[in-house]
Amino acid sequence: MTRYSLGAIVLHWLIAFALAFELALGFAMPRGVEGFALFQLHKSVGISILLLTVLRLGWRLAHPRPAPLESGWAHRMAHAVHVGFYLFMLLAPLTGWALVSTAPIKVPTLVFGTLPLPHLPLADSLNPIVEEAHELLAWFGIALFLLHVAGAVRHEILLRDRLLERMAPGGSRPLGAALALGVLALGIGAFLSIGGAKSGREEPENVATAPVTDSPIAEQTPEASPSAEETSPAASETPAPIPTWTISPGGRLAFKVGNGDAGVVEGSFSKWQGAIAFDPERPETADIRITVDLASASVGDSTQDGMLAGDEFFAVSRFSKAVFTARSARRTGTDRYTASGTLQLKGASKPQTISFRLTGSGLARKVQGSATVARAAFGVGEGAAAEGLDPNVTVNFSFDAKGTLPAE
Ligand code: HEM
Ligand code: HEM
Repeated sequence: MTRYSLGAIVLHWLIAFALAFELALGFAMPRGVEGFALFQLHKSVGISILLLTVLRLGWRLAHPRPAPLESGWAHRMAHAVHVGFYLFMLLAPLTGWALVSTAPIKVPTLVFGTLPLPHLPLADSLNPIVEEAHELLAWFGIALFLLHVAGAVRHEILLRDRLLERMAPGGSRPLGAALALGVLALGIGAFLSIGGAKSGREEPENVATAPVTDSPIAEQTPEASPSAEETSPAASETPAPIPTWTISPGGRLAFKVGNGDAGVVEGSFSKWQGAIAFDPERPETADIRITVDLASASVGDSTQDGMLAGDEFFAVSRFSKAVFTARSARRTGTDRYTASGTLQLKGASKPQTISFRLTGSGLARKVQGSATVARAAFGVGEGAAAEGLDPNVTVNFSFDAKGTLPAE
């Protein structure tokens, strides 16, 4: 029986394995900062598929395929699936490439960590269209895959015409069958393991909503919230105790920065905590410590979130937290305050002021405030990806807080 040339066979199976993995990866990769490395892998494998496909089409022109075994509807259908596959193999990577090239913030792509992939010169307004097209093409690819495998099974089991041998290395049917099962196993296995790892890693979405339990201020700064025994020598002059505050569920810590013609980039942190000792009547005794989990930063777009985690922005692999501390505050209006302290971010420690407004009364208050952070001082937003970003980032926060007075 006439067979496909060895080059065509090698490329067929190489691309089949790569595509099964790529589809599984695309659907299963986590859409947050934790998926950054998998995203880079997705882009690298996708671009490799594009190159292999160009090679394969060139090979096909130079090496004619064996004559079809069938004619009529079955042949036409098989032919349509093959043409569909070639279109899918070209268009899926191209739309993926267009997708990363039109994202509002450009994430640099390094193919397998080495070769920089330039961005295609496309208008950013195309982003939603190519994103939709990329996902639709993926489903189209899966449909073709199912039809193609059904066709192969039909030949193998119903027609028993040894079609598989045409596409098997050395014409070996067992080898062909093993490769086919290998492709399916890789696709399903990769989907389950990447998807499974993702759900295993998932943490509560908004930890800012959890009560703040770690490092209560009273322990860190005994002088700010004295216990009766420790302060006995000056007991008669002991000032009224300072309440410590627990952040209630539903708080928000957001940021925004201008991005030239592309508008404004807005996002938020889903995980942050505060240890706050504060008496609205004596703001000078304040002791504030806010800890922000930088890996929880999101602008609502997984591609850009991956970049936020990278070295040019937060470098979360080296600096996972930002910490703001202030040891006193100042009243600037009836219910308005500022606190000047220190912001530790990405290895730098710089003076930082925040302002806020308190509403409510007694031990149930609402806090709303903001800060302007000069990002260059912390090396946040370096390189080409951040070129259009304004130097100042506005941080806004709002949360409800419940006060507790230290026990006697
Ligand atoms: C996993 C199970 C797979 C099996 C058992 C299989 C089997 C085969 C067989 C037997 C042929 C030759 C058909 C003929 O001689 O007329 C073929 C051709 C082809 N297969 Fe697959 N295949 C598999 C996966 C894939 C995948 C994932 C792709 C995606 C790109 C693919 C793309 C193609 C294309 C485009 C052709 C036509 C080659 C040409 O004539 O240029 N196959 N396949
Ligand atoms: C044959 C090649 C490719 C296949 C089969 C493929 C498949 C997929 C699939 C199934 C998804 C998930 C769709 C969804 O649930 O929304 C996806 C997402 C994505 N792909 Fe690909 N892809 C390919 C190539 C590429 C390439 C070359 C790039 C970039 C250079 C790329 C970039 C992306 C991006 C950025 C997303 C995430 C979209 C989002 O959720 O925001 N892909 N891909």
